[in-house]
Amino acid sequence: MSAAESLVDRILARDPRAVARAITKIEDNAPDASRLLKALFPHAGRGVTVGITGAPGAGKSSLVDRLALLYRNDGKTIGIIAVDPSSPFSGGALLGDRIRMQGLANDPNVFIRSMATRGNLGGLARATVDAVAVLDASGYDRILVETVGVGQDEVEIVKAADILVVVLVPGMGDDIQAFKAGIMEIADIFVINKADREGADRTERELLTLLEMSTRPDGWQPPIVRTVATQNHGISDLAAAIERYSEYRGDHAAANSRRAKIAENRLTELLREKLLDRVVKEAFSEGSLPGLAAAISARQQDPYTIVEQVMRKVHIDEYDASEKDGSPVSRIEHLGVAVTSLDEGLRFWRDGLGLELADVEVVEDQGVRVAMLPAGASRIELLEATGAETPVGKFLAKYGPGLHHVCVEVAGVNATLDRLSERGFRLIDKRARRGAGGSLVAFIHPESTGGVLVELVERASGHHAAQEHC
Ligand code: CO
Repeated sequence: MSAAESLVDRILARDPRAVARAITKIEDNAPDASRLLKALFPHAGRGVTVGITGAPGAGKSSLVDRLALLYRNDGKTIGIIAVDPSSPFSGGALLGDRIRMQGLANDPNVFIRSMATRGNLGGLARATVDAVAVLDASGYDRILVETVGVGQDEVEIVKAADILVVVLVPGMGDDIQAFKAGIMEIADIFVINKADREGADRTERELLTLLEMSTRPDGWQPPIVRTVATQNHGISDLAAAIERYSEYRGDHAAANSRRAKIAENRLTELLREKLLDRVVKEAFSEGSLPGLAAAISARQQDPYTIVEQVMRKVHIDEYDASEKDGSPVSRIEHLGVAVTSLDEGLRFWRDGLGLELADVEVVEDQGVRVAMLPAGASRIELLEATGAETPVGKFLAKYGPGLHHVCVEVAGVNATLDRLSERGFRLIDKRARRGAGGSLVAFIHPESTGGVLVELVERASGHHAAQEHC
């Protein structure tokens, strides 16, 4: 990758490694994940997301594979997310299950990812829906989300899909009733897979009885498609049903209101992660939510920005310092100068120039004695090595005394690190470390800065400058 190309640019160019990295950030709830999603939001909304759910053993994976192959033959690009809440593994681990999907695994126009509970610090449903947003923004034509339709997480996941396919198998009996609770009402298409088995007619009859009892606000009558995925039977019928509903949805206002409903759910879910329910009540006036949801569904606003506005409004003190934007440098916090001895350095800076010596401190784990001399809003820090094998000792042996590092104060160290990392700058610290007084510090490698060791510092809120050598 070229250094100037940001992660966002690479995602928009459908670089699979960038897409995978973004999804990992989402799973890990990385500090820059919401900034990334914000940047991607205007680019999403073009792909069609198909949720495919059904009981374990219903043959969903085979169905997804066959559907993906059909789309590929049609020249479409495909993203697949396989969700398994029962698995402790995320990322590549589940893909072993998918080896059978020959012709897809090595296709550069197919992106496959499994997602599990582990590594999803903010919840599987949130992570999955956000991962779909990344695939959508990166331009995959069809995004297939495969889940076992049981838990609440999965109901949330499939609710967010544009089109929901529920997969049944002959002989399910009472299981149809079990599904009914969360998912049956919102299914757009039913599939009876393994339809060559005994009992397919009966399952279809039961399903029809169930469907007759309900009418949808958008007037759509969910079709029932019979398939035998393992033999590739009925897959084109399923694809045709998906396209039919996709067109229908575009033409009917009631179907669009479902989209607004989805956007509303999405927004409240994001908020729930950040705020207590009490705070949610404080932040929203009665009835304001549908208006925001309408703006999101019209793609005039993104939900991440709205969440931030709410958090500012209710003054969330715990708002994580590491989530601050990496806004511009506010000042040079200090200059670190390597000296053969503090006395030698003080001869010029204190005795000659007239700066005041505020403090001398030994920082054991850095192997350094530090003399601090305030100079207006900044400081000069004289650094004397406590031994030859210390960082400053090695610096002195290599270059002799002189300017060692420049420390700049920024509003958010982690956000700044992420920004630099995305642009290919080499970091010494990938995440901020704790400095004195609750400050956060990190170093940038001289290789990337034109030969200057650069230190970043973020003040703890309510504190003045960190009074130490970082
Ligand atoms: Co320093």
